Amino acid sequence: MSAATLPDTLTQQLRAIGQSHLVGHAATLDGASHDAFLAQLESFDLISLGNYIDEYGSSYTPPPPPASIEPASCYTLGGDWDVNTYRAKGEELIRAGKIACFTVAGGQGSRLGYDGPKGCFATSCVNGKPLFQLFAESIFKAQEKYGCVIPWAIMTSPLNHDATVGFFESNDCFGLDRGQIMFFEQGVMPSFDLATGRLLLAEPGVLATNPDGHGGAYKALKVSGALDAMRAKGVEQLSYFQVDNPHARIIDPVFFGLHAFAPDSSGQMSSKMVAKASWDEKVGVFCSVNGRTEIIEYSDLPEDLAKRTGANGKLAFNAGSIAIHAISLAFIEQMVSDPKYALPFHRAHKKVAFVDPTSGESLSPDAPNAIKLERFVFDGIKLADQSIVVETDRVEEFAPVKNATGADSIGSSKLLQTERAARWLESIGVSIPRKADGSVDAVIEISPLSAIEPGDLEAIDLPTAIEPGSTVVL
Ligand code: UD1
Repeated sequence: MSAATLPDTLTQQLRAIGQSHLVGHAATLDGASHDAFLAQLESFDLISLGNYIDEYGSSYTPPPPPASIEPASCYTLGGDWDVNTYRAKGEELIRAGKIACFTVAGGQGSRLGYDGPKGCFATSCVNGKPLFQLFAESIFKAQEKYGCVIPWAIMTSPLNHDATVGFFESNDCFGLDRGQIMFFEQGVMPSFDLATGRLLLAEPGVLATNPDGHGGAYKALKVSGALDAMRAKGVEQLSYFQVDNPHARIIDPVFFGLHAFAPDSSGQMSSKMVAKASWDEKVGVFCSVNGRTEIIEYSDLPEDLAKRTGANGKLAFNAGSIAIHAISLAFIEQMVSDPKYALPFHRAHKKVAFVDPTSGESLSPDAPNAIKLERFVFDGIKLADQSIVVETDRVEEFAPVKNATGADSIGSSKLLQTERAARWLESIGVSIPRKADGSVDAVIEISPLSAIEPGDLEAIDLPTAIEPGSTVVL
C-alpha cells in the first residue's frame, strides 16, 4: 500500500494545511487500518480545520476584552412579575407536548474520578440512585402530572455512547418508553500540537480527538435526526440541562412560560441563574456585553469585574449560570443552517498523549503540548434576538456533582439534597429536626416519583415529624 492510495484531493488538502506527516503515515498503513484512517480523515472539513489551526495555534491572540461589560438584567425571585400567569402559560405548553428534555452527557467526568458515564454515578443521598434514574423519574412524574409524553434527547460522546445506552436498556429505561429516548453522539475535533500545528495520532492510523464541547450539541441534534424526530412529535422547545445536576427542575412551567411569553424574550434561548456563592465560584456569569446578554465563563471573567461590588455591598456580577436553558428548535435550526450563527471555539492547552507518526513510539508529555477546541452551548445566547435570565433558588436547583471531594462533590450534593427535601417538607408543615448550625439532623431522600415540586407532596402520606438522626426515603 502506498501514499497514492489516499485520494489525490485528500493528499493535496492535507499538504495545503500543513499535515504532510499524515500523508506519509497513511503510506505505512494497510488494509482495514488504512481504510479506517481514510474514513476518519474524510469525516472532517480539512480546509476549515486548517483555518482553525492557524487561528488557535501558536500565533493565537485572545480577542480584546469587550468595551462594555455590565451585569445582565434578570427576572429576580420575588420580583415584580406574575409567577402564576407564566406558570399557567408554561403548563399549557407542557400539556400540549411542546417541550422535550435534552441532557448533555458527553463529558469525560475525569474530575469526579468515576470511570463510566457520569449519568450512571450513584447520586441520590440514601438510595444512591444514578443521575440518569433521577432525571428519568422526574420525566415520568411530569408526564403523569401533565398527561403528556415528554421526549428526552441525550447527547453522549464516542467515549461513553455504548455504555450509556446499555445502562438504560439494562434498567428498562427506568420506567420510560425506549421510543421516547433519543441517544446520539456528539462530534469530535482533532487535537493538534501547539508548537507545530500538526494533528496528533492517538495510535497508528487514528487521529487524536476530543469531544467538540457541549456546543457540538446543536449540530449533533440535527445530523442525528433527533431534531427532526422531535419536530415530528410536535415539540417546539427544549429543556436543556447538564448531566451533573440532580436538582435541575427539568420540567419547569414558570421558566417556559417566561421564555415563550415574556415581552422581552424572543423565545429562542433563555437561561436560569443563581446568586453566586463567592466571587471565584466556578460558574459562568451572565453579563450584558455591548447591550447583549451573554455568559462569560468563569475562567474568562476579568478578576476585577468578578470581585466588583455594588452599592449594596453584593457582587455586581452576581448571576451565576447553572447551565439550564430553554432553547427553541427553530433557533437551533437557524444556528446549524446559517453560517452567520456559527459558534466560536474555545481553546484549551492540554496534555495529549500521542504516537510519533514516523517511529511509532508512544509519548506521554509532562507538560501541556496540544490544543483542544470546544464549542459551548451557551454561546448561542448572544445570537438570540432577545434572551432573558431567570433567577432561581440555589438549594432548589443546583446541587452539582463535579468533583470527588469538596465543593460541587457528591458529598456537598447529598447535603443539598437533604436540605431541599427538608424545605419541601417544612413548606407543608412537616417538622424537621435541625442542629444548632441550622443543618438538618437526618438524611432525607424524596423520590422524583413522589414529588418534583413541593406541592406534589400533598398527595402522599407523610409523617408529621422527621425523627432526629433518622434516614428517610419518601
Ligand atoms: C459548566 C459551565 C459553567 C456553569 C457550570 C454549572 C461550561 C464550559 N461551563 O462548567 O458555565 O456555570 O457548568 O454547573 O460548560 N459536556 C458534553 N460534551 C463535552 C463537554 C461537556 O456533553 O464535550 C457536558 C458534560 O457531560 C456536563 C456538562 O457538559 O454535563 C458540563 O461540562 P463541564 O466541562 O464539566 O463544565 P463545568 O466546568 O462543570
